[in-house]
Amino acid sequence: MTSLTVGLGQRSYQIHIASGLLDKLPEQASARRVTIVTNEVVAPLYLDRLVNSLEKVGAGTTAVVLPDGEAHKNWESLNRIYDHLLASRCDRTTPIVALGGGVIGDLAGFAAASYQRGVPFIQVPTTLLSQVDSSVGGKTGINHPRGKNMIGAFWQPRLVVADTDTLNTLPDRELSAGLAEVIKYGLIRDLPFLEWLEANMGRLMAREGDALAYAIERSCANKAEVVADDELETAKEGGRALLNLGHTFGHAIETGMGYGEWLHGEAVAAGTMMAVDLSRRLGWLGDVDVERAQRLFERAKLPIRGPALGTDRYLDLMGHDKKVIAGQMRLVLLRKLGEAATWAEAPQTEIRAAIEACCG
Ligand code: NAD
Ligand code: GLY
Repeated sequence: MTSLTVGLGQRSYQIHIASGLLDKLPEQASARRVTIVTNEVVAPLYLDRLVNSLEKVGAGTTAVVLPDGEAHKNWESLNRIYDHLLASRCDRTTPIVALGGGVIGDLAGFAAASYQRGVPFIQVPTTLLSQVDSSVGGKTGINHPRGKNMIGAFWQPRLVVADTDTLNTLPDRELSAGLAEVIKYGLIRDLPFLEWLEANMGRLMAREGDALAYAIERSCANKAEVVADDELETAKEGGRALLNLGHTFGHAIETGMGYGEWLHGEAVAAGTMMAVDLSRRLGWLGDVDVERAQRLFERAKLPIRGPALGTDRYLDLMGHDKKVIAGQMRLVLLRKLGEAATWAEAPQTEIRAAIEACCG
């Protein structure tokens, strides 16, 4: 088992990564009773095993099973969790355990952040995307029809348990979506990892266990470092915002197309290619760099072009992004492969040109 620490002083916590962890939870998962939040796809696959394991560490359980999908990352689902917590008389000491992908993790985390002003939270991520990204770092929330992840809170889990075996049941399209966030770490801050990905993408796509475990560990190590340095994304330059490479463009795709049409990772891949193209237009990247990024996404079977929403619509949607501060759009761009920067000076004409070159 690999264990990493997210260093946040008294709120520090561990990420455990290994095959078979669902059947042998660490002691830190023990509690008198817990509430599991999951969905209709994940529950038949893994809920019984999690319940049995929690019972072994002494916890009684109740579960809320939500409808599946990004379209349900909303108020209705959140209210179903609150209803369950109240009906089951959960108190401030009852941890909420998220069993599922990023949608369940974000919803359950926001419920944990807000129920009775905050209860303990444990992440049991079951998608590649949630194991490499969303289960770590404490961003929680729901979508609004006008904007992705617009309502939420920072609420750190007290434990993350990633059982890599759960990836065996993940559909191919979801595996690819998770790889978009894996590639992100290489592009923004870890050139040796990017080179490793170039050499090992075939093994990841073939779901070789040791390659997947390494990619998850390396991704979590990168994320843990970034979060420990800038937990609340308040750094004036760089910091946690760099984890959002491609996300301002990508969130526009997700909102513009309707939640769930494009998977988050797919939108991030196409959005990253817009950021890469813009970085080339600013003279920061060369054609060879653009081709390397593009080739990695293609090998991961991810889209490299966004949908034809229209440039004005992209810009309008991007203007609602959380990275817009005082009306100024702060984009994450690449100074070079393996080094990202936040940048508010990109000329509108070049942003337009990048969208037009990379969409439709
Ligand atoms: P998801 O949660 O929708 O899961 C993808 C699909 O796989 C769903 O249908 C799910 O039911 C199913 N599934 C989950 N585990 C499975 C398994 N082991 N076997 C078979 N099917 C399984 O999507 P996701 O890609 O995990 O997460 C995307 C969400 O995460 C987005 O809402 C995004 O905004 C959010 N996100 C949050 C953060 C953060 O820091 N909080 C970071 C990145 C992404
Ligand atoms: N996924 C971006 C972040 O956690 O900050």
